Amino acid sequence: MIPKLISGDITRVDADAVVNAANSTLLGGGGVDGAIHRAAGPLLLAECRTLGGCVPGDVKITKGYDLPAKYVIHTVGPVWRGGAHGERRTLESCYRKAAGLAMEHGLKSIAFPLISSGVYGYPIEQAIRVALSTLKEFESADIEIYVVVFDDRFFATAREIYAEIFGVRA
Ligand code: AR6
Repeated sequence: MIPKLISGDITRVDADAVVNAANSTLLGGGGVDGAIHRAAGPLLLAECRTLGGCVPGDVKITKGYDLPAKYVIHTVGPVWRGGAHGERRTLESCYRKAAGLAMEHGLKSIAFPLISSGVYGYPIEQAIRVALSTLKEFESADIEIYVVVFDDRFFATAREIYAEIFGVRA
């Protein structure tokens, strides 16, 4: 299905899975990672400790515990180092693998934050563009995809990029 762009806090989104923009330890951090761990409760960290970390561009799944979402799909985005270090390819891989893993598990909905666009420094417009253009690959798949924009300052920009990529208003 064509992705839906929404504003707000991903920890409140009632989807089968929410995606966490984690770091390679998968042991928590700030930003959306901190928010997801706080909302899910300590059992999430306990399960994450069993996973052995995650490399950039890859994904791992856990239960959602106290979140409305049933599952968390943890991924590790690229740290922005100027754009010539494979950042785009790694970021595309995060979206593609997370949506693919959700489908393998038979999930019907998944919500993404704008991976790497915070602490990891990926320029916001480019981060939005990579998210939406990669998720366009799933427009004929049987899964509802939400892209959650947390920072209201970027919602109008995200809508413009959405209209450009999908040819319709978000
Ligand atoms: N809901 C949705 N989006 C959010 C939320 C939320 N509750 N909180 C923040 N965002 P970041 P990164 C947005 O820094 O850049 C962590 O410490 C935020 O506005 O969370 O991939 C990890 O442990 C931004 O647009 O993730 C890693 O060390 C987007 O989420 C590192 O940060 C991503 O910002 C990962 O950095």
